[in-house]
Amino acid sequence: MKILVIHGPNLQLLGKRQPAIYGTSDLETINRELKRLASTHGVILTIAQSNHEGEIVSLIGKTKDQCDALLINPAAYTHTSVAIRDAIEASGLPAVEVHLSNMYAREPFRQHSLIAPVCRGQICGFGALSYRLGFEALVALSTTTPLGTTPPQRSRESARSRRPTRRKSSARRRTR
Ligand code: DQA
Repeated sequence: MKILVIHGPNLQLLGKRQPAIYGTSDLETINRELKRLASTHGVILTIAQSNHEGEIVSLIGKTKDQCDALLINPAAYTHTSVAIRDAIEASGLPAVEVHLSNMYAREPFRQHSLIAPVCRGQICGFGALSYRLGFEALVALSTTTPLGTTPPQRSRESARSRRPTRRKSSARRRTR
């Protein structure tokens, strides 16, 4: 199994950047831990960090045929990038989105991810551990569902039509 790991903008500053929010581990330490984990699972990793949206888009497009899955922290692009979202969707790769911080407990502009809907799942708030959990989720997924087969998504419409209709109280029958 081969996993492409992408770290988005400013993550090269980890360890020095707002340690109260992002923790004290630097990117090298996170990558070393991922590589250690990968070797215990027989997984091959390709790891990249980029501060450029287009570079991330190209990397996903270029590498998609050589990888089985994607582990991505899109960083600030999480909240803005339709291009990265489209690239992930087009790649067909099963992806897990990870964040060090709990973005839902932060500023309102961080509380929405454009990327999450094209991922199998999202892990956030566990510091450097989020990467480990994300990696393990992809490995676990590969043993339960063949990677690449996206489970059917329920559309909002079909979800609505399946929702049980509530009986009006006046129509409720008494049982004695
Ligand atoms: C982040 C959260 C983003 O909102 C932020 O822009 C980052 C890091 C995280 O890992 O917590 O750069 O993705």
